[in-house]
Amino acid sequence: MSMDGVLKLYFGESNLPTPEFLKRAAQKALADGFTFYTENAGLPSLRRALARYYLELHGVELDPTAEFVITASGVQALHLAIRCVLDPGDEALVLTPAWPNGAANVAMANAVPVEIPQPLVGDRYGIDFAALETAVTPRTRMLLYTSPSNPLGWVAGIDEQRALLDFTRRHGLWLMADEVYERLNYTGPNVASPVPSILKLASREDAVIVIQSFSKAYCMTGWRLGWMVARRDVAARAAQLNEFVVSHAASFTQRAGETALLWGENAIAEMLARLKQNRDFCLAALSKMPGVTVPKPDGAFYLFPKIRGAEDSFDFSKRLLLETKVGLAPGVAFGAGGEGSVRICYAADQAILEQAMARLAAFLH
Ligand SMILES: Cc1ncc(COP(=O)(O)O)c(C=O)c1O
Repeated sequence: MSMDGVLKLYFGESNLPTPEFLKRAAQKALADGFTFYTENAGLPSLRRALARYYLELHGVELDPTAEFVITASGVQALHLAIRCVLDPGDEALVLTPAWPNGAANVAMANAVPVEIPQPLVGDRYGIDFAALETAVTPRTRMLLYTSPSNPLGWVAGIDEQRALLDFTRRHGLWLMADEVYERLNYTGPNVASPVPSILKLASREDAVIVIQSFSKAYCMTGWRLGWMVARRDVAARAAQLNEFVVSHAASFTQRAGETALLWGENAIAEMLARLKQNRDFCLAALSKMPGVTVPKPDGAFYLFPKIRGAEDSFDFSKRLLLETKVGLAPGVAFGAGGEGSVRICYAADQAILEQAMARLAAFLH
């Protein structure tokens, strides 16, 4: 990070700033006096806005008074949820390669993450249900998956979601779905259609928790605002627990979150059109490089090519950085199944992507 002139494709956020109308919403909220404490579960008005959002986007009816907890980021939602369902010594199944914070939060609860790699079947990632069945022990309490996936870009299909729900119901486990990239979807009927949410298949009595965030859809990474949708008993506990962690997300950012939900659709659609172009450009460039296998991702803003000669992906990424000043994330950082690949974030300027792809091609040749 201290090197000058690096083409930075290792990060996990868009290069776009937060849209102006959201900055103005936060300024107005401050001027309107949203400087005091809020409820531990977040402003009731934001929870109502989220309930409307789920009804409109997914046709799912949720109770704003009982099934939402607003959090100070997606990772804080993950932390609260995991703390609520795991005791020390419990085990959590985690589909990998995955953003490492899920497994890290399990470990912070003195529980044990059990990583189950997602196999590449043909040109699409899948779920290894046989491995999941084998991994269940009397201490297993939950399964965490991410759709769209960071780093794979894989999106869980309805059948896969149904099978995950069936698996967790049969074994009496919590199903935790990290859906923070749900709006970054390239396969929907319209440009900004979300990926399917597990909330559509599950009933409100199911042991299901969804982790969500304003970070990726609205370019609000630095704001630290997210939410959780959970069965009401756990939502109530998570809100209580929040009191001892951060008490609640910042008041004025919560107000800006309401504006994002109400008026953010055009900004999402514009961003997605650009991201899709970037994805297609990088895919075309990578497919011409020697020794590179790269499945086409359906969501998020990452490519995760497997590279012959990058069996030690940390060493490969370091050499690439030192010799060409292209910064990628080594696949080994994403747990079981990640070694041998690198993660490329394509939420960058086209000119940066062009240079980075040219340098990577020359390096591989
Ligand atoms: C899969 C996944 N979940 C959750 C998050 C958390 O996002 P935030 O804490 O910014 O809301 C990230 C961020 O990179 C992510 O990649």
